[in-house]
Amino acid sequence: MRNDSQLVYNAPARVFHWLTAGLLLVQFVLAWSMPEVHRDTKPVGLIAWHLGVGVVILLLVLVRLTWRVAHPAPPEPATSPRVMRTLAGLTHIALYALLIVLPLMGWANASSRDWPVALFARIPLPYLSSPGSRFGHALGDWHANLAWVLLALVVLHVCAAIYHHLVLRDGTLIRMLPTSRDSKSTS
Ligand code: HEM
Ligand code: HEM
Repeated sequence: MRNDSQLVYNAPARVFHWLTAGLLLVQFVLAWSMPEVHRDTKPVGLIAWHLGVGVVILLLVLVRLTWRVAHPAPPEPATSPRVMRTLAGLTHIALYALLIVLPLMGWANASSRDWPVALFARIPLPYLSSPGSRFGHALGDWHANLAWVLLALVVLHVCAAIYHHLVLRDGTLIRMLPTSRDSKSTS
């Protein structure tokens, strides 16, 4: 027999999830509060924070994915229709993909502007495109546009979590809550 704790994501998975969500919120606030970026803009103030938080999100998601590959998700509530489970899986894959591709595009755009990028403001990272590169420049537009796609997916994801909780009442949200009891035997 399976008990409730076996349906819950393990503690590191939950910490990674809420840390990513919190940092992403900060990152969008920074993106929309920072000055508009022009040819002669300097990467200081809120722009520097946007670059710094962005590479931390990238690192966090890479560590999170590594953890996730080694620790599969707990079994899903049997009440969820198969089509919903498939859609949820596809949304999660798209979220992970965007959380990697989007920061890489922003980083390549920063390189094309000859803006150095550092991890934790200490560890210098390599350039992803050469300064003045047209490709790196074009990625800036893609970066800003794809951020809207990410935001739309996050809204869909949050609506689905609320629907599971309030309408289906199948315990899906509980699986990811930081306060849930940890499971030693799954994921
Ligand atoms: C998941 C992480 C990230 C999100 C959600 C995000 C989001 C955004 C958004 C919404 C904008 C458009 C701001 C506006 O409307 O003016 C933007 C612009 C920008 N971001 Fe990010 N960003 C992320 C990561 C990064 C990283 C890692 C870097 C660089 C290391 C970066 C560098 C930039 C640059 C240079 C721009 C200006 C692009 C241009 O106008 O050509 N971003 N970002
Ligand atoms: C804001 C940015 C967010 C991102 C990027 C995000 C991303 C993800 C990802 C990638 C997963 C899949 C975990 C895995 O199996 O590896 C997941 C699961 C989950 N998330 Fe989020 N999430 C966010 C916010 C939220 C919020 C605000 C809620 C609640 C209202 C939430 C509720 C859940 C739940 C309940 C699961 C487990 C789903 C299941 O068991 O099928 N997420 N999230």
